[in-house]
Amino acid sequence: MNPFQLRGGRLHCEAVPLERIAEAVGTPVYVYSTAGMQRRARALKAALSPLADPLIAYAVKANPNAAVLATLAAEGLGADVVSGGEYRRARAAGIAAEKIVFSGVGKTQAEMALALEEGLCQFNLESVAEAEMLSRIALSMGRTAPVGFRVNPDVAAGSHAKISTGAAHNKFGIAIGETLQAYARARDLPGLEVRGVAVHIGSQLTSLEPLEAAFGKVGELIRSLRADGHEIRTADLGGGLGIAYDPSAPPPPTLSDYGDMASRIAGDWGARLIFEPGRIIVGDAGVLLTRVIRVKPGPARPFVILDAAMNDLLRPSLYDAWHAIDAVVPTGERTIADVVGPICETGDTFALARDMDRVEAGALMAIRGAGAYAATMASTYNSRPLPPEVLVNGGEWAVIRERQDIEALIRADTLPAWLAR
Ligand code: LLP
Repeated sequence: MNPFQLRGGRLHCEAVPLERIAEAVGTPVYVYSTAGMQRRARALKAALSPLADPLIAYAVKANPNAAVLATLAAEGLGADVVSGGEYRRARAAGIAAEKIVFSGVGKTQAEMALALEEGLCQFNLESVAEAEMLSRIALSMGRTAPVGFRVNPDVAAGSHAKISTGAAHNKFGIAIGETLQAYARARDLPGLEVRGVAVHIGSQLTSLEPLEAAFGKVGELIRSLRADGHEIRTADLGGGLGIAYDPSAPPPPTLSDYGDMASRIAGDWGARLIFEPGRIIVGDAGVLLTRVIRVKPGPARPFVILDAAMNDLLRPSLYDAWHAIDAVVPTGERTIADVVGPICETGDTFALARDMDRVEAGALMAIRGAGAYAATMASTYNSRPLPPEVLVNGGEWAVIRERQDIEALIRADTLPAWLAR
């Protein structure tokens, strides 16, 4: 069940009316549902329960707020991190080091040393050069780094080009044809303990077929690696399962379809499976709550101008992403309008020719599907402070990130001596 429902004609998050949060905190503001995240985490655990001891390593990049991480840590999830910052956030939220997988296409020496210091489940390496660097650092620290290589299976994810990662021309992973040499080299590196394989072909996938094709290639690779004498104990199958942003589009596969497929393809590999879900855990558990500044007539249809903009939620502008936009107190009247933000770019558009609730200045709106890749991609473009975030839990709610203070934004810049004089 979606945690954002109309109750008595007013949109609530769980038991809290969104109007109450908007009045107290102002808009724009991100609002997340604890129950929404918990339900997804539990549904995924149930879907993967036929597997022996899978590790669900939540992709921190989807929503790295400390309260979100703590909520998911309490569900037993680990973390997939791609930077030293994400590693530290995961640890600060109480996620055990041995539940952390370190992915990312350009890990630095400092990031490698940080994760080696406290420990982790494994590094997913993207090149032989990276393996050589990690081995050197591990040796200098008197450690052995647990590793797998991320393979590029050359499978088209069928998602938006900017978030598809598994085709041969994408920057990610080692070409599947070159993996045997890479593993042979890694075996000779004294600072490494080779233990796994990893794959991730993209995000917001709405079909299981490309995932199944990629997993199949990983299964073949594991057989070849074992034949070469490598002990492969883990297989990281990445993330990528999409959510239903547009209710009129065909629904994406369910978590249980996904779990069934993973169990069927990979259940007998004799390896511990790792999953790196991001969007599917938090995407539907958040909205961006925003107020209509004014409605301006346009040549074809009105512009509904919100107090949220592309700096707060970049997805429509960057990926042409479709997000449902609903009045918090719908009147039942409908209109066709363009929904835009106040930023000085035409790209600052949330929806074009949208069939939507008729609204007027001052109306509150909820942009749905804003739990993943939303607040975390916000910027201060147009000198707009970063928006606050609120977490709801039943009838309770709390600010989990304050609205950025404009004074703090101004103070963050410093003048060079010749201008300060
Ligand atoms: N594992 C790796 C190695 C990844 O690169 C990603 C996402 C994930 C797991 C999690 O994927 P998910 O389950 O969330 O699909 N900003 C874009 C999405 C970028 C995804 C980047 N990598 C968006 O707003 O759609």
